[in-house]
Amino acid sequence: MANKLHAAITGVHGWVPEDRLTNFDLEKMVDTNDEWITSRTGIRERRILKTPGWATSDMCAEAVKGLLEKTNTKPGEIDMLIVGTITGDMVFPDTANTVCDKIGAKNAFGYDINAACSGFLYALATGTQFIQSETYSKVVVVGADMMSSIIDYTDRNTCVIFGDGAAAVLLEARKDGTGIQDFVLRGDGSGREFLHMKAGGSLRPASAETVANREHYAWQDGKRVFVQAVKGMTGTVEEVMRRNKMTIEDVNWIVPHQANMRIITSVAEHLQFPLDRVTVNIHKYGNTTSGTLPLCMWEYEDQFKKGDNIILTAFGGGFTWGALFLKWAY
Ligand code: COA
Repeated sequence: MANKLHAAITGVHGWVPEDRLTNFDLEKMVDTNDEWITSRTGIRERRILKTPGWATSDMCAEAVKGLLEKTNTKPGEIDMLIVGTITGDMVFPDTANTVCDKIGAKNAFGYDINAACSGFLYALATGTQFIQSETYSKVVVVGADMMSSIIDYTDRNTCVIFGDGAAAVLLEARKDGTGIQDFVLRGDGSGREFLHMKAGGSLRPASAETVANREHYAWQDGKRVFVQAVKGMTGTVEEVMRRNKMTIEDVNWIVPHQANMRIITSVAEHLQFPLDRVTVNIHKYGNTTSGTLPLCMWEYEDQFKKGDNIILTAFGGGFTWGALFLKWAY
């Protein structure tokens, strides 16, 4: 709707570490093989952050610095910065504050959102509110995870899936009908049983025992997560389409969370949506948790056209999931 103010993504930029962990590297680490990983997940390699002293905030800072340069924005102009992550530099303080310090965003405040693989989606919906209410003019939303810091490289059920990476978007007001139109966010805390990190929180603080039991790593019941992910993403995409009276033909792109190629294919099949309009980069980066959606938008930025109807969808630990409909703004 023209004239109505919408929060719009006016730039996107990503950053991934240079070091690659290939399926062939993993063959030497656990009992697995390239054929199994490729056919069951679609992943061929992931990026791993190895720079000494670097953590999630550094990946965020690199992504945001690139974003500011690209959008001709000065750090001091940022009002607010939100980071979707489950691998913050420390339990506290939050990573968003550290990022603001590292990029010199002196006038910004911010916070982290912990919604696992839906972190970016939740953070984007949150940032949207501050623009739409005209509280702030420039909000940066980052999705970033250094999954290698919580992955057990002796557990073949998880270590083949995850990787590290970060990407950021700039949100600004637009009155030309483009921008974020609608979203559906969902959560079901009973899903925590199937995807979690057992220790390191207040329930089981770190101890010699939790370390010895290898409880400081991501743990999942892969099959259970798989089924719920397909159901959750398909259902919320359908709901967003229904609410906005859209058919498959009206949607130019679906940007799904990159958890497993078979999950992506299955969602597309359920929706009867052609795969050539679904963004995919899982083969290069694996599952970067909060990083997948903005990294996909960064990758496909050149193919998106102003006014394109795009639906973002994600599913993650919590369980958390949802779908967000936007009209591309540039
Ligand atoms: N290499 C070789 N074999 C492996 C393996 C690996 N990396 N990982 C598991 N296997 C084995 C299993 O041990 C099992 O062997 P068994 O039959 O002798 O017990 C067999 O392969 C089948 O395991 P299963 O768990 O049924 O495989 P799957 O097809 O469900 O694939 C996942 C496993 C984890 C790839 C898949 O379930 C998945 O992607 N789930 C979603 C996870 C996810 O997205 N999490 C992130 C949050 S959104």
